[in-house]
Amino acid sequence: MKVRVTDTYEDMSDAALSFVVDQVRHKPDSVLGLAAGSTPLLLYQKMCDAMKEGTVDFSRIRTFCLDEYIGLSPEAPQSYHSFMKKELFDGLGLPPERTRIPDGMAADIARECAMYGAEIEAAGGIDLVILGIGQNAHIGFNEPGDTFVPETHVVELSEATRQANARFFDSLEETPHWAVSMGIRDIMLSRNILLLASGAGKTEALYQAVCGDITPKAPASILQLHRNVLVLADKAAVARMPTKYLD
Ligand code: GLP
Repeated sequence: MKVRVTDTYEDMSDAALSFVVDQVRHKPDSVLGLAAGSTPLLLYQKMCDAMKEGTVDFSRIRTFCLDEYIGLSPEAPQSYHSFMKKELFDGLGLPPERTRIPDGMAADIARECAMYGAEIEAAGGIDLVILGIGQNAHIGFNEPGDTFVPETHVVELSEATRQANARFFDSLEETPHWAVSMGIRDIMLSRNILLLASGAGKTEALYQAVCGDITPKAPASILQLHRNVLVLADKAAVARMPTKYLD
């Protein structure tokens, strides 16, 4: 797994856009897996701009988000429902029936997890999943642990993740303890994977993902086993990466 390095976050987002556009031009009804978080924000903005300018047509894509907090209503401003709607789906004009997100308020959460996996399968699987990486090398909300969890599942968020995500909430206390996440199998079955990393805060996590042992203690390291992964990172995120891993 090699890392394509760009000078800046903006350059990384441009390179990501061109990868996503190629995918959707090649298959206009592509199924995309989507991360929330700060890293893909500029990519999402650029996708909306490209759609507005008529460079590419995203109207036939279907999307499955990687994760959602448990206990937040879809309307809550910090929910990933709100985030994705505001940052991407409204700009692309995608209706809710094309944009599935786990329901963190489901009365029967185990059933919701099972349904989510079944819906991904019924859609023909994911063509391209766009991933960020947590500071502890999580992908989606697949947190470090003793095993890889294959299916969509309920996760207890680590303290490190809650602290990293507290910036989106009024306080750490208000930051949820639980989430639903697509599992590692769902991600690894995606036909293509785009992993994005930006900034010095991701240097260690990206090092573990690309150069470290394949271990559930650094969930992103499993991506080393996938044959179609593009890792895009800015200079700051590859500060301690040996050059043999750089493209
Ligand atoms: C979050 C999300 C992930 C995201 C990662 C990095 O907690 N669950 O999907 O990729 O952590 O987030 P950011 O891009 O904000 O650093």
